[in-house]
Amino acid sequence: MRMRPALIAAAVMALCACGDASGAGGADASPSRLGLGREVAPHEVAKFDRDVGPDGAELPPGQGTVAEGATIYAAKCASCHGAKGEGMTGGFPAVIGRPANAEGFPFGGSSEPLDRTIGNYWPYATTVFDYVRRAMPQLTPGTLSDAEVYSLTAYLLAANQVIPMDATLDAASLRAVKMPYQDRFVPDNRKGGREVK
Ligand code: HEC
Repeated sequence: MRMRPALIAAAVMALCACGDASGAGGADASPSRLGLGREVAPHEVAKFDRDVGPDGAELPPGQGTVAEGATIYAAKCASCHGAKGEGMTGGFPAVIGRPANAEGFPFGGSSEPLDRTIGNYWPYATTVFDYVRRAMPQLTPGTLSDAEVYSLTAYLLAANQVIPMDATLDAASLRAVKMPYQDRFVPDNRKGGREVK
């Protein structure tokens, strides 16, 4: 018990001593004082700041068709998600399909298992683009061009009967797509509890 404050004091002293010859203590521990790191240039941040939100404001230029998406899907996605997007055992989810038990599915409060797909569950078309661009293919994320992601998004939405099979998607047309079950999602704006958003 009596040792503990002494140990903490020693640890704090050791931290403060780092890079501070004046002995004034670690009041200013800014990176320049420590001689570490550098400012990150905006073009470097842009490489990582690539998320696209529900309103699609950040969607990049470019476009793609359902037909192109089908070809890319067969080459880069079918090995895990199945030739028809039906998914595979072992944790590879279905990406195509509107299972009968999920048409008009009850949201919450139901014990009936729900096969969730892009067609019956995703609230925004824009976030299909976002997810595929950032996370897929699972083993090589970030390797798809924006045009390829537009094509894949077009294919996935068409195969889920959300847009026509001859559709071409770009930023404006993707923003305009309304997902069939969007209205089943409600913004959780409750206050007073633990917020984990
Ligand atoms: C190496 C296997 C693999 C490949 C290849 C792959 N995926 Fe996936 N994908 C996964 C796994 C695993 C998940 C589930 C990830 C999770 O839940 O965290 C997933 C999830 C997804 C989802 C979200 C499904 C949902 O409703 O939750 C989409 C959409 C998707 N992948 C699209 C694609 C597309 C498009 C391609 C091709 C460019 C692709 N995937 C290639 C393994 C793969």
